[in-house]
Amino acid sequence: MRKRLVAGNWKMHKTPSEARQWFRELIAQLPPTQAEPALLVPFTHLPYASEVLEGHGVSWGAQDVSAHPEGAYTGEVSARMLADLACKYTIVGHSERRSYHAESDALVAEKARRLLEQGITPILCVGEPLHVREAGEHVEYTLRQLEGSLEGVNPPSASHLVIAYEPVWAIGTGKTATPEDAEAMHRAIRGWLIARYGSGFAEELRILYGGSVKPDNATALFSQPNIDGGLVGGASLKLGDYLQLLTA
Ligand code: 13P
Repeated sequence: MRKRLVAGNWKMHKTPSEARQWFRELIAQLPPTQAEPALLVPFTHLPYASEVLEGHGVSWGAQDVSAHPEGAYTGEVSARMLADLACKYTIVGHSERRSYHAESDALVAEKARRLLEQGITPILCVGEPLHVREAGEHVEYTLRQLEGSLEGVNPPSASHLVIAYEPVWAIGTGKTATPEDAEAMHRAIRGWLIARYGSGFAEELRILYGGSVKPDNATALFSQPNIDGGLVGGASLKLGDYLQLLTA
């Protein structure tokens, strides 16, 4: 039985002090839920996340990490720094980093390896742009991205890796994949993971859907057999929406 993960990706929103207040309100209002809440926040918010969320059943982490373990890399943040702030998860390979920062599959795999060395679970994002979907090549494209981004990535157990399928055309657009289309891709991803890591491992691993997940479409998406929760942008910034997603 895979525990659903409802991961909020805050992207570049809120100040650290706004985040601290939001975290306090979240734990005060946290509903009984079968899902695991997690928040992926800007680096600057992480000390407050560890201070306020610790012991309340909410996980936290970053949205990116350096591919280098340590050294003269101005502006970068290492996996060891994230581990020191008790990050459980960290996103790698988000489409915004792949497109605005030209991150390759090989770089994403390197980042995932750095996280695993520090005991942090990578949330690895994959997904096709619109022209690829329209050409009907989305499955091959996404599986190829998965293969390249998992090169040399060997998590010690299925709980040490999360895959997020985020079709680029659904991110921040209000356009969501239908539950059936999303499920078809998740099934293909799980099939690929079975071939790569074996069925016991792949059946335990969580595959999240991301792209305009909202309270009114989450239940239909999350009830698909291979969709194990969501990676949520916009709706994770509003406390009321995020609370609803936790019980969807
Ligand atoms: P939205 O939920 O705002 O579409 O963002 C999705 C996303 O990119 C999460 O990583």
